[in-house]
Amino acid sequence: MRYDDLRTPSYIVSESALRKNLEILKDVEERSGAKILLAQKAFSMFRVYPLISGYLTGTTASGIYEARLASEEMKGRENHVFEPAYKDDEMEEIFSICDHVYFNSMSQFDHHLDTIRKHEDVKVALRINPEFSTQEGHEIYDPCSPSSRLGIRLKDMPEKLPKEVTGLHFHTLCEQGFEPLKATFDVVEKNFGKYFKDIRFINLGGGHHITKPDYDVEGLIGLIKYIRETYDIEVYLEPGEAIALDAGTLITEVMDIVETGDIPTLILDASAACHMPDVLEMPYLPPLTGSVESGVKVRLASRTCLAGDVIGIYELKTMPSVGDILTFGDMAIYSMVKNNTFNGMPLPDIVLQKEDGDYELVRRFGYSDFKERLS
Ligand SMILES: Cc1ncc(COP(=O)(O)O)c(C=O)c1O
Repeated sequence: MRYDDLRTPSYIVSESALRKNLEILKDVEERSGAKILLAQKAFSMFRVYPLISGYLTGTTASGIYEARLASEEMKGRENHVFEPAYKDDEMEEIFSICDHVYFNSMSQFDHHLDTIRKHEDVKVALRINPEFSTQEGHEIYDPCSPSSRLGIRLKDMPEKLPKEVTGLHFHTLCEQGFEPLKATFDVVEKNFGKYFKDIRFINLGGGHHITKPDYDVEGLIGLIKYIRETYDIEVYLEPGEAIALDAGTLITEVMDIVETGDIPTLILDASAACHMPDVLEMPYLPPLTGSVESGVKVRLASRTCLAGDVIGIYELKTMPSVGDILTFGDMAIYSMVKNNTFNGMPLPDIVLQKEDGDYELVRRFGYSDFKERLS
């Protein structure tokens, strides 16, 4: 397909931008000895799992469906899973398709001990809560917020790790650089270091913005080498965003322009609530191709009936016309995995922009995708 043949709205993921990120991550793996996993919650476009598996060690899942997706679409690579609580009737399958299973509490670990003991080949880890917050502002993304349910606090850890546990895991960052990781690891080492002699691996979670141009990659490599050499344990990282950062766009058509009292509002066939929920949840203003610091001020909003379905206020060089196409940036991550059909909105097409410049329509959704989730 050519660009002109694409329909709106469409998520367009760029193979070459993905590869660029993967090359940075592969370099970190090779020079530090760390193992890097794709956190599928951020990006599960399995059409490109063959590409990703050429660079990374495997995937991590937040539940049985993501774990199953990885076992089907990224065969032969490591398959990790972490859930705050596991359903009894899912455990056999989880232990048969995953090679690393992480528990969020000692009670969950104890509850599933029979299954754990039956599957000696599956490595088991505990998620810890370092109680060291490095974030301000958005508590819903802070696993170290005071009332967080994520990870075992030091006071709730056993004196000695059960023999079945060979790993520790912490995930505390969100879109952060190396310094907060280093500060967090220092706290973990001080408070949980006594367990390091009994483990074989540590997982430093996600939230590392490794593929951002200003990320201190050398600092990260230094820390990983320090951990591996000092404690003789394997180090895992499980970023989501970093894998597909700036690797996708969402194209949308201007359907109408309405006067709303202050500035013109452009009605788009894309929706913040349905197609880019993080814009409302984080919240953040997604980058828009062609926006300028000072120009014509417009409000970009959706054709849903939700009053608050507004993407944001932008300044543009010139006033768009009905029928124009607008392009939002950084739309590969936390977009497709979170979208929904609220208001009966159609889901955007999923398109892969190939390295040879061609566009492949990977998936087109229809009415049945809306209806099948209802009764
Ligand atoms: C346990 C865990 N690991 C990894 C990630 C991926 O984080 P990010 O996409 O910010 O790198 C998350 C995100 O919430 C997470 O909860």
